[in-house]
Amino acid sequence: MDLFRRKSVQALQAEAASDHSLKRALGPYNLTALGIGAIIGTGIFVLTGTVAAQNAGPAVVLSFVLAGVASAFAALCYSEFASLVPMAGSAYTYSYATLGEFVAWIIGWDLVLEYALSATTVAIGWSGYIVSFLADIGIRVPPQWQAARGTVVALADGTTTTAIFNLPAVFIIAVVTTLLVVGIRESANVNNVIVVIKLAVVLLFIALAAPHVDPANWHPFIPPNTGEREHFGYSGVVAGAGIVFFAYIGFDAVSTAAQEAKNPQRDMPIGIIGSLIICTVLYIVVAAIATGVVPYGQLDVPDPIAKVADYAGLGIFASLIKLGAIAGLTSVILVQLLGQSRVFYSMSRDGLLPPFVQKIHPRFRTPYITSILTGLAVAIPAGLLPVRDAAKLVSIGTLLAFVIVSIGVLVLRVREPDLPRPFKTPFIWFVAPMGAISAAYLMFYLDGQTWIRLLVWLLIGFAIYFLYGRTHSKVA
Ligand code: ALA
Repeated sequence: MDLFRRKSVQALQAEAASDHSLKRALGPYNLTALGIGAIIGTGIFVLTGTVAAQNAGPAVVLSFVLAGVASAFAALCYSEFASLVPMAGSAYTYSYATLGEFVAWIIGWDLVLEYALSATTVAIGWSGYIVSFLADIGIRVPPQWQAARGTVVALADGTTTTAIFNLPAVFIIAVVTTLLVVGIRESANVNNVIVVIKLAVVLLFIALAAPHVDPANWHPFIPPNTGEREHFGYSGVVAGAGIVFFAYIGFDAVSTAAQEAKNPQRDMPIGIIGSLIICTVLYIVVAAIATGVVPYGQLDVPDPIAKVADYAGLGIFASLIKLGAIAGLTSVILVQLLGQSRVFYSMSRDGLLPPFVQKIHPRFRTPYITSILTGLAVAIPAGLLPVRDAAKLVSIGTLLAFVIVSIGVLVLRVREPDLPRPFKTPFIWFVAPMGAISAAYLMFYLDGQTWIRLLVWLLIGFAIYFLYGRTHSKVA
């Protein structure tokens, strides 16, 4: 069946070795920084607050633990694939080699949710923090222009109105897209600086806000369920995990930079697993402090970490933390959009998307047309969607990719056991099934509307595949 035609791993490895169109500039530190740059973002800076207030209470800490465990299983599977097939397409490329073209297409299409729509979600978070920071220095963004269309916002005179468009979110997408068109080395260097700032800000927050924790705020740790599945109780904690899972997305963006790594076999696993471990520890601590300082019911705001800092009376440091969050969120958008253009690039090389997608700029050597089109496509929902809705859709799409990757790595072990694997997933017969099951479990707890959106997205993908990709595929 041509739907299941595959690329051989050997062919992919040869392709990776012979392809010099993207520059190989990234070492282990750059890759880990790329991971941290992609991971710490709207998840911790924004979703912690909304999930504590609406789903889990102080047990948002447990939500982070659950989502972290699911991500760790998947990270171990990704690492084996990424070291084996160091190509720019991430899970898309891995599944092309293992589960066949149709599944690869589904994954590639699904990854648009993970990368492009993530950038949308993070841009919305960025908007919350820039608006808050600008207010500190006396600049007021009109409320109608700082939130999702239709959101009820308060005006200065105390009356309310509905928002028109989230202008700051669109603005930051335009800036990052420009950076990406100019080139990977510049982007990676900017990213390194920003990652240092972001880590400094998170550590500063932990150090300064911790003394203001009032343990009374942690009781009840898991507020009783209200009767609706998503609201508190155990089911609320798991639903919360499905949403804050968004916070862990990004480690696999390291794998999309495989073709730009100097020594992908050794450095991809270091970059992926190292960045995930660092972020997990930070998340758990930050979530505990946030819910310990401010009663969880008050955390559903666009800039919860800033609110905690203000609440703790950190003064000038609160503004500094906002500034760091702004820089940090920018780097997430950068890595996500970079990952997206690389995935599209790979799909186009395989013939599943039209050839213009892989056109490389003669001077900057970046896939500039894709970057620009992606930027435009991402900017529109950034102006229109609420952060929770966008995050849930990204989470469900990414969880689906994790299920497929976890199964794929196992399939390849069985089918081609003797391939040289620079990194082997430990305890594969436990880790891979657990990766698939834990991701599926979190998907199950996400709401019906999110599921419908996922299905609609996949149906659009099927249509494109059968109308274009299937007949243009290079493998065919
Ligand atoms: N993990 C990234 C974030 O939290 C996508 O913003």
